[in-house]
Amino acid sequence: MDKRYYEPEYVRTLFDKMSASYERMNYITSFGFSIRWRKQLLQSLPNNVSQIQVIDLLTGMGENWNSIKHKYPNCQLTALDFSEKMLKHAHKTNDLKFKQRVRIKCADILNNDLPSEQYDIVTCSFGLKTFSKQQIISLATEVKRVLKKGGHFSFVEVSEPKNLLLRSAYSFYLGKIIPILGKLFLGDPTEYKMLWKYTSAFKNADDAAAIFSDAGLQVHKQSFFFGCATGFWGVK
Ligand SMILES: C[S@@+](CC[C@H](N)C(=O)[O-])C[C@H]1O[C@@H](n2cnc3c(N)ncnc32)[C@H](O)[C@@H]1O
Repeated sequence: MDKRYYEPEYVRTLFDKMSASYERMNYITSFGFSIRWRKQLLQSLPNNVSQIQVIDLLTGMGENWNSIKHKYPNCQLTALDFSEKMLKHAHKTNDLKFKQRVRIKCADILNNDLPSEQYDIVTCSFGLKTFSKQQIISLATEVKRVLKKGGHFSFVEVSEPKNLLLRSAYSFYLGKIIPILGKLFLGDPTEYKMLWKYTSAFKNADDAAAIFSDAGLQVHKQSFFFGCATGFWGVK
């Protein structure tokens, strides 16, 4: 994969452009599974009804907020993303559904001013694929830095299934059909072609899990629907 596709400015612009159709397309690209995988992201994490600090990284439009608030009803939720246009939708959701109680932060996670040892829980859905290996190493360092000792984290990402039949069907769908739908929704399929490029370069969360483990975090891998999504959760 060409290095420039991982440059923050490139990724930010990509999501700014996709923001208008992201919600619909995200649902379609995962056959509706994205909603389920987001819920599963939280299942491995411990319940807690205290006033804990939770941060949802690469929060997009706030797709995880409902589930987080359901699991952690008294938490202070912080949500971070660097795409202003994705966050514009997040602000609307915050006004309409969350009484502006979510602290939304527009920042690059790899260049942020978050306080150290602040959060009990770190969550992140579908954000890993646009990071290079080097960036995932920095991400692991950041997650370790911002987590309290004993704090938990969970990540999930769309992945290339190992089963050949499923992989061929999935790659045809994401690589060929989705760009056509992208053209219908957006008039330009380029952004949605990139999704498959990132997913096939990312493959699955195994390498990222190993990187988080090398950073000194306790890591457990997880796989959903025959490897169409993979992730990991763990403890500092
Ligand atoms: C595929 S979307 C996922 C959004 C949401 N978490 C979901 O479940 O649908 C990835 C998001 O990560 C954000 N992002 C990517 N790299 C980032 C970085 N280095 N710092 C902050 N946000 C980033 C993008 O702007 C985008 O909104």
